[in-house]
Amino acid sequence: MKINFKNNFIASVIISYLLFVQISLHGQQKNQTSYSNNLAKNAMSVSTESKIEALIKTLTLKEKVALCHAQSKFSTKGVERLGIPEIWMSDGPHGVRAEINWDNWKYAGWTNDSITAFPALTCLAASFNPELSSQYGFSLGEEARYRKKDVLLGPGVNIYRTPLNGRNFEYMGEDPFLASTLVVPYIKGVQKNGVAACVKHYVLNNQEHWRSKINVEVGDRALYEIYLPAFKASVKEAGVWAIMGAYNKFRGKYTTHNPILHKILKSDWKYDGVVISDWSSAHSTEESALYGLDLEMGTGTDGLGTSTNDFYSQYYLAAPFLKGLKNGDFPESLVDDKVRRILRLMFRTNMSANRPLGNANTKAHHDVARRVATDGIVLLKNEKNFFPIKDDKNVTIAVIGENATRSMTAGGGSSELKAKFEISPLEGIKARYKNATITHAMGYQTGPSRYNQVIPPTLDLDSLKTEAIKTARNADIVLFIGGLNKSHLQDCEGDDRLQFGLPFGQVDLLNDIYKVNKNIGFILVTGNAVEMPWLDKVNALVETWYLGSMSGHAIADVISGDVNPSGKLPFSFPVKLEDNAAHFFGTSSYPGENMTQYYKEDILVGYRWHDTKKIKPLYAFGYGLSYTSFTISDIKTDKKTYTTEDSITVSCRLNNTGLLDGSEVVQVYVGKQKSKVKRALKELKGFQKVSVNSGKQYSVDINIPVKSLSFYDEAISDWNLEKGDYIVYVGNASNNISKKTKITIN
Ligand code: BGC
Repeated sequence: MKINFKNNFIASVIISYLLFVQISLHGQQKNQTSYSNNLAKNAMSVSTESKIEALIKTLTLKEKVALCHAQSKFSTKGVERLGIPEIWMSDGPHGVRAEINWDNWKYAGWTNDSITAFPALTCLAASFNPELSSQYGFSLGEEARYRKKDVLLGPGVNIYRTPLNGRNFEYMGEDPFLASTLVVPYIKGVQKNGVAACVKHYVLNNQEHWRSKINVEVGDRALYEIYLPAFKASVKEAGVWAIMGAYNKFRGKYTTHNPILHKILKSDWKYDGVVISDWSSAHSTEESALYGLDLEMGTGTDGLGTSTNDFYSQYYLAAPFLKGLKNGDFPESLVDDKVRRILRLMFRTNMSANRPLGNANTKAHHDVARRVATDGIVLLKNEKNFFPIKDDKNVTIAVIGENATRSMTAGGGSSELKAKFEISPLEGIKARYKNATITHAMGYQTGPSRYNQVIPPTLDLDSLKTEAIKTARNADIVLFIGGLNKSHLQDCEGDDRLQFGLPFGQVDLLNDIYKVNKNIGFILVTGNAVEMPWLDKVNALVETWYLGSMSGHAIADVISGDVNPSGKLPFSFPVKLEDNAAHFFGTSSYPGENMTQYYKEDILVGYRWHDTKKIKPLYAFGYGLSYTSFTISDIKTDKKTYTTEDSITVSCRLNNTGLLDGSEVVQVYVGKQKSKVKRALKELKGFQKVSVNSGKQYSVDINIPVKSLSFYDEAISDWNLEKGDYIVYVGNASNNISKKTKITIN
């Protein structure tokens, strides 16, 4: 980029910037860590803020407007005469997406854009492990930096409301506290690289069906208590630099330019970063200008496959915005605020002097991906000690199912990745089991993963089934590797699943296999809960999510016992769809009627619904087995009575009473029985993942600020901490509580 010094003032701004670059570069060689720490801090220095103000004074109106919208599918224009660079963005939450063409959605076909695919965010949530989330974010940020991206379009923290949502795999489950706790270290990790995380989709984008039109009607309590906390934590605790609007409407107005952006995000939470539209989620110049959108992306496409070429100058925040500013329809302060935020983003990223260079596909990244994967895999059922499976030369293991070999980094929508490699479950199992005989049959086949198309299979389904039954009959152990995939109407952006049960005839196939071999373990590869009328046909069940590059190795680690499973479900698995709160209320609640839906379950989302309404789930939030056994004892709170400013310390002793080393997640829920408002029976307020060797014990202390027990009081439009008695529940799953203790808040 050429820099043209037009006047002395600009030159002095640039020279001081270059000086800053030099000094900082020098510092970088000396102390990389302290640089990272500074970058992670949210507040800009006074001198940077004054540089930003000086730049705003220097920019022409036209240049300011040009900063507020895209110039290509994933980039924005800079200001060449001032040396203000372009901003480059990329999806998405699980890895850095392959390069897309300048002006259409096709892949550019580069040969140097393959990366590490990290596990899906459901898996990260299931790990209940904030330390791993930090490593995940940092490694991903390094890859984004290496690929010269300034903004990484992720993570996603929309709450899991219905198991049909095609995009749940990109999110962190049904509990706001879990999602908040895990999203903060991820964001800090990404941003340590001088790459902005962009938390999405703000807000209430809880289904893909009709996502670009649906109007969500939800009460303030559910909004503040369930759907906003992870965004709030991203802003206030992680200091996130970018937030993406959503496609849907809230109370009749599109969320990308909605009064809640100013009211909640920018005013109440004092967010000083950029609001970026989702791709084509802006709908009006006036509303984009007035209601908090800073940077418009993707307009002129349907967000899925089609484009209007070179439409950028016609964006709502392009020529029409400039016209409105010139006419005096909008004050210049409006565009200045957007530009201020965009320049702040740049000083944090592409105008930051000495951000690290990043790297990709390193062993360290693959190790992190494998650790997150093994930490997040959830063992749901394990009868007759089916798992772990020994590598015995006298044993034949039949691996059946399309998901044993199907790529799960391809498809799914914008989170699709071009992984440098992806170890399939079958490859992972073959690599681990050197002595046992591994046989394989596909059993069923679906078409390739495509964004918004269902592609028919090409093979003969009857012969696939016959072959699978034969393979199963001749084996000692059957590993059925099935579930969903990343095709349209499965776990895929753009629409929702059409059925809660397993698709593609898998249940019929399983039943037929059961007739010839009853020793079956099911490896469920999904990002969502599924119906399981077949559960009694399998001895064991393990939920492995979508695990990315190291998928097969991670699955082999767990089923062989090299790693003892410790993942916990980040959302409930209902027995049947109507047991889920959103579905209980019928079509006006999901998917909506006449393009409006009412979140009638209000705050009772997920386990809050199951617990409070006494509807037993098939598998409960927070549940997950281990190959060893634990007891939680000596459970107590540090006091019986607390004031509103206190913190409650819940302590207990975790004993590993089994024969293997392992990790357990101690979970603390709190509930208020007598309340002036409707309450969930209990809510997760603290947890800790602890690893304990066989026969050993570990003391656990979990702190809970009393203020976090407040509810959002619609009568006063603020948080309200009720005095009185509360019950503290401690256990290792929402449905397995070891002890309840009463405390009082005065
Ligand atoms: C998705 C976003 C994504 C964007 C760019 C949209 O369709 O909703 O999450 O970041 O496309 O690919």
